[in-house]
Amino acid sequence: MATHKLLLLPGDGIGPEVMAEVKKLIAWLGKTGAASFEIEEDLVGGCAFDAGGAPISEDAMKKAFAADAIILGAVGGPKWAGVAYDKRPEMGLLRLRKDLDLFANLRPAICYPALADSSSLKREIVEGLDILIVRELTGGTYFGEPKEVVTLANGQKRAVDTQVYTTSEIERIAAVAFDLARVRKNLVHSAEKHNVMISGLLWKEVVTNLHKEKFSDVKLEHILADNCAMQLVRNPKQFDVLVTDNLFGDILSDAASMLTGSLGMLPSASLGAEINGKRAAMYEPVHGSAPDIAGKGVANPIAVIGSLGMALRYSFGRTDLADGIERAISRVLNDGLRTGDIASAGQKTIGTAEMGDAVIAALGKELA
Ligand code: IPM
Ligand code: MG
Repeated sequence: MATHKLLLLPGDGIGPEVMAEVKKLIAWLGKTGAASFEIEEDLVGGCAFDAGGAPISEDAMKKAFAADAIILGAVGGPKWAGVAYDKRPEMGLLRLRKDLDLFANLRPAICYPALADSSSLKREIVEGLDILIVRELTGGTYFGEPKEVVTLANGQKRAVDTQVYTTSEIERIAAVAFDLARVRKNLVHSAEKHNVMISGLLWKEVVTNLHKEKFSDVKLEHILADNCAMQLVRNPKQFDVLVTDNLFGDILSDAASMLTGSLGMLPSASLGAEINGKRAAMYEPVHGSAPDIAGKGVANPIAVIGSLGMALRYSFGRTDLADGIERAISRVLNDGLRTGDIASAGQKTIGTAEMGDAVIAALGKELA
């Protein structure tokens, strides 16, 4: 059986706690012979800064390049609020995305029926929801140059971030969205602000042309990003695949996450281009480091467990195990097990480790 080389980067806040559940699951998969992994671990984010003065070390970057896939917990927290901009915990994550060229960020938002009442929206609006957000991850405002603060002659400061996209950057992310739509409901919404932004105008034009040339069998709708935010809370089930740029994708995916009941439920995959049959890949929960609950053992590990599931699906071709993990998550939810973030008022809650154990036990039943 192939051995999968995984790099684990637990990071900050609740990152290490939820990653501990992934480690348990990996050990279980190894012990039962379901899959075999070779594990490395390193620091990213604030903890890496504390240890070595940078949000990710060169050594950790080397391991990242050598791994078949990376699983990252979360980065950041108030402890590092005063750290210089280029050394902030988030910069470790951004460097991984950029240096590994992980341009395609897949963020599925699925509302498990058992959780429909945990959403802040009405059950009938969210029940059965299944959206896939495809966020461009290595361009746009996050990385555009210039990115600077200059002091003007009058003593004022002037800060600049730059929104920039080229034809090929837009084409490659749109192609990912169209491809994925073909194995789903065959519908793509492309969100930008072509009414205000010149980069939005190009985005729309490139997506339209690519659609005409190669993907005319897929239904394409253009939507303004602000309207998209509104439609996500008004009638989210109208969406199938939603492709958008880096910044809008950041915002719209947070909005979409609450449709599912909790940010603690959402895994994500960040994928690079396929080179010689190999695709660089990093998997991470969409949630952040949640410093307010860190260290208490109450965080929900489902998003990071789901991220291991996505690694099994997209990096290791183990659809059987990926499906098994999804069914195991459904099963624990149907059994009424809840961490605090997905509990309804008065419902009994369990901790991080208990939830991890429950998912493993359910997976055992699913695979039996
Ligand atoms: C996300 C996060 C990151 C982002 C932060 C932690 C840099 O919010 O993955 O959505 O803004 O991309
Ligand atoms: Mg975000």
